Order: sequence, then structure tokens, then C-alpha cells
Amino acid sequence: MQVAQISSLGSFVGQEVEVRGWLYNRRAKGKLQFLLVRDGSGIVQGVGFRGELDDSSFEAGGTLTQESSVIIRGMVREDARAPGGFELSLTRIQPVQIAQEYPISPKSHGVGFLMDQRHLWLRSRRPAAIMRIRDEVIRGIRDFFATEGFINVDAPIFTPNACEGTSTLFETEYFGQSAYLSQSGQLYMEAACMALGRVYCFGPAFRAEKSKTRRHLTEFWMIEPEMAYADLDDVLVLAERFLSYLMGRVLTERRHELDELERDTASLECVVPPFPRITYDQAFEILREEGTETPYGSDLGGTDETTISARFDRPVMITQWPREVKAFYMKPDPDHPGRVMGVDVIAPDGYGEIIGGGARMDDLADLERAIEEHKLPPEAFTWFTDLRRYGSVPHGGFGMGLERFLAWACGIDHLREVIPFPRTMNRLAP
Ligand code: 4AD
Ligand code: MG
Repeated sequence: MQVAQISSLGSFVGQEVEVRGWLYNRRAKGKLQFLLVRDGSGIVQGVGFRGELDDSSFEAGGTLTQESSVIIRGMVREDARAPGGFELSLTRIQPVQIAQEYPISPKSHGVGFLMDQRHLWLRSRRPAAIMRIRDEVIRGIRDFFATEGFINVDAPIFTPNACEGTSTLFETEYFGQSAYLSQSGQLYMEAACMALGRVYCFGPAFRAEKSKTRRHLTEFWMIEPEMAYADLDDVLVLAERFLSYLMGRVLTERRHELDELERDTASLECVVPPFPRITYDQAFEILREEGTETPYGSDLGGTDETTISARFDRPVMITQWPREVKAFYMKPDPDHPGRVMGVDVIAPDGYGEIIGGGARMDDLADLERAIEEHKLPPEAFTWFTDLRRYGSVPHGGFGMGLERFLAWACGIDHLREVIPFPRTMNRLAP
């Protein structure tokens, strides 16, 4: 007997196949049973007639509760009205395990409740569609960078260095000394690009975010390319090509899932280069016009980002940041004293900052001074300053938060829904 995935039933029309899955829903009407079975690849309706089905199969069908595991066999028939376009005329129903009363019923539940049931909720259609899009984006990331000649270099998770400020470090005991969970692989990518030219890492990043916002996870996945012999403009061009490629990939390969999520795709179709570029000062002009309370010279908050993004139909790249609001490693802008050559890329429609990056400080004396000014322990950074002792070159890169991109692509407000098992300040389980 041919075992078939529901998504591939189209190649088995007129044949009898076996589908192994779970019961999504069941209806019975006299001598008829309708089973909706899902197997992870899709959902199919099986129609069982008493008579065509042996008695034990028909009885077994009647015992199936929601999410019972079940193996069914049947003839594949085309049926335009059926979910997925195919139906199975059932010849056998074989329960594997009869599920206890399933906590997630077809009625609607609050997200808080569903998050407590995340291990089960993943089986529902929307979360499953999001996970398929996530998988597509991850493969897209790898394909993009491979095609562009970037080498994947993994960064460590345990590190002695604070990369993105000391206020969000997760500290852990490491054989009598202290270690941090990595906030970013960037510093290691700076070393790796001096060895391999163009590199990227893709792994989890950890930040003890004490703010409960919809845009912050304590554990998220970040993709970080880094290029030797590159300036800020090279970074901007890479960022816009990368984002356009990824969005195009989702639109072509995961259209069905976007429909399932009822994502309005018109606003995603226009994500093509060139992206608008504005300076921090120009961004602030917009904020002033809209009556912001954020003081000039400080970092922009989520509301500010939303206000700015409302002026553009695609991601906007903000450059020329005040030195004080950015990390220690940012390269000073020689033409604009007090400014650094960093970039934040803000997604449209209020999805916030998806990329942060820029040109790196490549001068040894500047970097040593910056480490001191930021009160970072110089001993932990000697390996990093070595990169400026031995053949320093202009270089730069960025970090994209995978979940920020996904929330935007999927049209989901809260990052917790686009990662399989979210970690936030008040969630460590399941
Ligand atoms: O802007 P960030 O802090 O930049 C860096 O970490 C650089 N070292 C990256 C680099 O240049 N290699 O973070 C980069 C991106 C943000 O733009 C955002 O998309 C995401 O990481 N991000 C978060 N995503 C989810 N939850 C959080 N708490 C995040 N913090 C940052
Ligand atoms: Mg940032």
C-alpha cells in the first residue's frame, strides 16, 4: 500500500493510498462518516460508507475523538469542493491512539491560553502555516548568502564579551568564571571576515529584555552577515537586496500559507530596491511634524518607528545616528562629527526595526578608547582589538532578527507567534 502525504495526493488520483495522521474533525450522518484528517502536510476529507468500509473500521471511526492518531486508507478522488481539492473514499480506518479530551477546541481561545498549550497549538492551521513560512525563510537565507559568496561561520553561544550593551546580558557561571549567553555573533564575524572575506552566522541570540513588548523575545534567531573591505553603502545595498529576495521567496513559495493567514500581500509585493534612505535628523523631522515627545538625540522607540514607517511603502533605512545611542563598535562618520555610520532598517506598517548594522570602527586607538568609554573590561576585548592590529580594513555588516522579519511577512503583531517555543520575560514554558 502506497503511503501518501496529503500535500501530494494529486499524484495518486484513482489509486488507493494510506494516510497517517490525526483527526481534525468528524461528522457522521446515518451510514456516512466524514473524517477530516491532517498529517502535517495538509488536511484531507475521508468519506466512509458503511458497506464499503468493513464493520470494524466503521465502528472505529465512531470512536475517534479530536486529535486521535489514525491511519486511513482510501481511493483518491478529485473534488473541487473538498479542502485541498481531493477526497478519499475510505476503505479502512485504523485508530492508533484515542486522544483524551483535547484542550484546544474549534471555538476561539485567547492567545495567553493558547501559548500555555503551545506544544499542542502548533498542530492548528495558523501556527502550522507560520512554521512553514519560517522554514522557507530559513532556507531562503542560506540560499541567498551561498549565492552571494558568503561562507557560513558559526559564532559561539557562551562568550566573555558584551556586544550590545551590558543591560541585557544573561550571565551564567562557567567553571568558576562568568560567561554570557551571546547577544550577537557580530564580534566573531568581524574576525571571520578577515579570514574568509564575506561570512555570516545564523543562530540564537539572547537578551534579558526587561520590557514586555510585542517586539522583544529573550531568545531569538539572528542572521548576521559581515564583509571585509566594505563601507556603509555596501551594507545598505546588501540589506535591501537581502530583504527583497526573502520577501519575493515567501510570496512565490508560500502563497498558500499567506492566504491561510489572510495576509494582505499587496503591501509585500512592493518590497524591491531601492529602499528610501534617510538620516537620523530627517527621521526626527518627521517625528516633530507628528508631535513626538521623544527628545532629539535619543534612541527611537517603537511608536516613533511606526510613525516614521507610515511615510513609506517599503522598508526605510535610517543612517547617521548620534554616537551616544549606538553600540561601542560603530564607525564615526568623518563628515558628521558626533555621528556614526550605523543603520536601522524599519519595516513598513509598524512592524518595527528588522535590521541593525553599519560600518565598524577599524582604527585601533579609536576602538580602545570606545571600549574604555563604555566601561567594558579591556581584557575581554584584546582578541577583538587584535583584528585592528593585524591588517585592519574597513568592514561592516548587519543583523536581522528572523522573528521580526517573519512577523512582518506573516502580518502577525506579536513575535511570540512566529517562533515555535517563545521565550519572554514571563514565559519559560512549554
Ligand atoms: O540592532 P541589534 O541589537 O544589532 C546587533 O545585535 C548587531 N550586533 C548586529 C550586527 O550588526 N551584526 O539587533 C539586530 C536585530 C534587530 O534589528 C532586531 O531585528 C533583532 O535583531 N532583535 C530582536 N528580535 C527579537 N527580540 C529581541 N529582543 C531583539 N533584539 C534585537
Ligand atoms: Mg538595533
